[in-house]
Amino acid sequence: MAVSLFVLFFLLGSAAGRIPAVIVFGDSTVDPGNNDFLLTPLKANFPPYGRDFPGNISTGRFCNGRLSTDFLSASLGLPPTVPPYLDPSLPIQLLASGVSFASAGTGLDPATSQLLSVIPLMEEVELFREYKSRLAAHFGAAEAEAIVGEALYVVSIGTNDYIVNYFPMATERSKQFTVGEFGEFLAAGVAEFVAALHALGARKIVFVGLAPIGCLPLERLTGGGGGCSEEHSAAARGFNDRLEAAVARLDGELPGLRLRFAPLYNFVSDVIQNPQSYGFENAEQGCCGTGELEVSFLCNKWTPYTCPDANRYAFFDSVHPSEKLNGLLSDYLLKTTLAEFI
Ligand SMILES: *[C@@H]1O[C@H](CO)[C@@H](O)[C@H](O)[C@H]1NC(C)=O
Repeated sequence: MAVSLFVLFFLLGSAAGRIPAVIVFGDSTVDPGNNDFLLTPLKANFPPYGRDFPGNISTGRFCNGRLSTDFLSASLGLPPTVPPYLDPSLPIQLLASGVSFASAGTGLDPATSQLLSVIPLMEEVELFREYKSRLAAHFGAAEAEAIVGEALYVVSIGTNDYIVNYFPMATERSKQFTVGEFGEFLAAGVAEFVAALHALGARKIVFVGLAPIGCLPLERLTGGGGGCSEEHSAAARGFNDRLEAAVARLDGELPGLRLRFAPLYNFVSDVIQNPQSYGFENAEQGCCGTGELEVSFLCNKWTPYTCPDANRYAFFDSVHPSEKLNGLLSDYLLKTTLAEFI
C-alpha cells in the first residue's frame, strides 16, 4: 500500500512537473531582444540597459538585468535566460528549452503594434508556428508535439494598448471606444490568440494581468503632482476583470487546455505603496535619468543622473521594472498562479 501510494505520487509528480521549455509572448516586459532585429525606434540594446545582465550585455531587454521570464526559466531548472526567437545566431536545439516571441511596444490591439512598427501579437503566433516546424525538422514530429504540449506559455501584454495607443495618441480607438468598451475589445481579441496557440498544441497558458499602470513613473506625469494616474490604473483594473473572465470562459471551451489568469495588480500596488518592505528606496521614479520620462532611446549612456544601484529602484526606466522587481514578480507568480504547473 505504502509502496503503491509512493509510486502514484511519483508518477503524478513527474507528470505535473515536466516543463521542457518556457515559451513567451507579449511586449517589452518579456522581450529579450526581438526588437533588435526590427526596424523600429523602440529598442534597448545599448547601455545602461543590460549593465547588470550577466556579461554586462545590452541584449535588448528593457531592464538593467534579467526579465521576470528569465527568472522563471531559471527557477524551473531551465536555462537562466529565455532567448529571443529572431536572433539568427541561435540554433533550434537551444530554442527547444525556451524562447520568447515578444516584441516591445506591441499590444492586443493590432493598431498598437503599428504605431511603433513592431510585431503584432498574431504575427508572434506565426513565428511560433515556424518554430514548431523547425522543432519537428530537427527532433521529429512526435518530439516537437511533446515539447509544445508540455511547455509553459507565459503571455504579458496589454499595457501598450493603454499607454501608447488609447490614452496619449487621440487615436481612432479613443474616438471609437469608451475606456470600458476598449477593455472589452482587447479582451475579445484574446480568444483568437488562444485558439491559435491551442490549435498548434499549447496546453498550459498563463496570461499575466496588468499592473497599476497609472503608477508607472511615466504615467505619473499625467497623474498630476507626481501622483499615480487613477484614471489609467482604473482602466487596467477594468481590463484585468475582462481578461480574467475571457480566460475562464476559454479555459472551459477548448479541450485539454489549462488557461489561467495571473493577477499581479495587488502585488505591484503593494510594492509601490511599501517599497521598503521589499528592499526598495524608490518606487516612484525609474533609475535611468530623472526617472520620470526616460525610456528606450531617451535612456542611453549620455543620460545624466542615472542611479548607481538599480536594486534600490522598483523601476529601471520610466516604464519597466528593475531586475530586482522582475525577480520578485517571478517568485510571486511561482507561489501563486504557476504553483499548479510545477
Ligand atoms: C559595462 O559596459 C559599459 C559600456 O558598454 C561600461 O561603460 C561599463 O563600465 C561596464 N560595466 C562593468 C561593470 O564592467
